[in-house]
Amino acid sequence: MTGGRFSLALAVAAALAVPAAAQPAQPTAKALYLLKCSGCHRADGQGAVQAGVPPFPGFVGALASDPAGRTYMLHVPGVMGSGLGNPDLARVMNYLLDTWSAVPADRIPRFTSQEVERLRAVPVNDVVNYRRGVVARLRKSGAPVAEYPWP
Ligand code: HEC
Repeated sequence: MTGGRFSLALAVAAALAVPAAAQPAQPTAKALYLLKCSGCHRADGQGAVQAGVPPFPGFVGALASDPAGRTYMLHVPGVMGSGLGNPDLARVMNYLLDTWSAVPADRIPRFTSQEVERLRAVPVNDVVNYRRGVVARLRKSGAPVAEYPWP
């Protein structure tokens, strides 16, 4: 009995002794992406065009270079339903940009938690239609736009 309690105490002490570095306070942006987004968008961001999931590489930077495109990005169903708070959404969005933007980083501002909060408050009733407005502007400026199920 005493021995059992002693080994339990040892186990607890050992668990508490795990160095802080081994237990990050928050998941990395990549981990958030893998957990919340990659099920549909895939780990490599290529999505599945046949299934209606647009690819990110080469396209996501153009979306984020347009002010309404930034609002749009925060209103797609996968982001709305992610359950992530503003700081984590900013980190995931920046992960998309850091990983798959073809536009030079200095030309696309990264998201801040404050911007995410502001953009999420913008009313977007019909996200597909909202995308059309963004895409029309991007096409006019010659920016690349991903293949998408409802053009
Ligand atoms: C259940 C599947 C699913 C999940 C999970 C999901 N998405 Fe999506 N995502 C889609 C589909 C389908 C589209 C395209 C159609 C649409 O707008 O709904 C899309 C579109 C997008 C777009 C716009 C791309 C374009 O070219 O218009 C962005 C940005 C995006 N998702 C980001 C994310 C992020 C970030 C996450 C994780 C927090 C996420 N998505 C989770 C299915 C998903």
